[in-house]
Amino acid sequence: MEWAKIASTSDGLELFTRDGEYLVAVDGKELMSSYCHVSEDTLATVSRRCTNLPRPKILLGGLGLGFTLAAYLKEFGPDADVTMIEKSSDILDWYRRYTKRNSLGDLDDSKVRFICKDISQYNPDERFDIIALDVDNGPEAICGIDNQTLYDRPGLKRIFDQLTPNGTFLLWSAFDSDSFVADAKSSGFQVTTEKVDIPGEGWTHYIFICTT
Ligand SMILES: C[S@@+](CC[C@H](N)C(=O)[O-])C[C@H]1O[C@@H](n2cnc3c(N)ncnc32)[C@H](O)[C@@H]1O
Repeated sequence: MEWAKIASTSDGLELFTRDGEYLVAVDGKELMSSYCHVSEDTLATVSRRCTNLPRPKILLGGLGLGFTLAAYLKEFGPDADVTMIEKSSDILDWYRRYTKRNSLGDLDDSKVRFICKDISQYNPDERFDIIALDVDNGPEAICGIDNQTLYDRPGLKRIFDQLTPNGTFLLWSAFDSDSFVADAKSSGFQVTTEKVDIPGEGWTHYIFICTT
């Protein structure tokens, strides 16, 4: 069955559907599909291990189809303050109109604070216990050149300063990156890498776990 395009934007985002599944593409390349979200869900289970605070403050970057958000809401239940930053108002609109039912099921996202903003321009006056990013395919900007400032040393230092003491920054990636690990370490983080093997696919995704 062919993918059917149901929406697109002037800045290169497209939403497709096929047989109850969804796919978001940017500039003709797949950014996220609903077929496999094991590693996106794993961000939440790893985060749960990283904090034993009764009500952690969590900042998530990149809504996409909403699977990571759904996984955090399942993992932490009502016991977390979750802020979701998504830079595209179209993605937020598609989530509400189409993809939310697919990813979130019966869960209630009404307690999530949604902010439509580029996370690289976000200067909160609060600190977070967890910051988790899945905005590109890893520490390499594919959703706009400005995203590179999330992964270079000044950007990593900025994220470091947005975390509480003992806070954790998690970065989803489709590839391993020694240079990212080195830059995160020089920015003050202790870094471990969790490999997530994708069942039936024969490929591996990575979660960089950076603690203050
Ligand atoms: C790979 S998708 C996220 C997939 C998501 N983890 C899921 O479960 O569906 C990346 C998302 O990040 C958003 N994004 C990209 N750059 C961003 C930025 N600088 N600030 C906020 N959102 C961004 C994109 O518009 C897209 O919605």
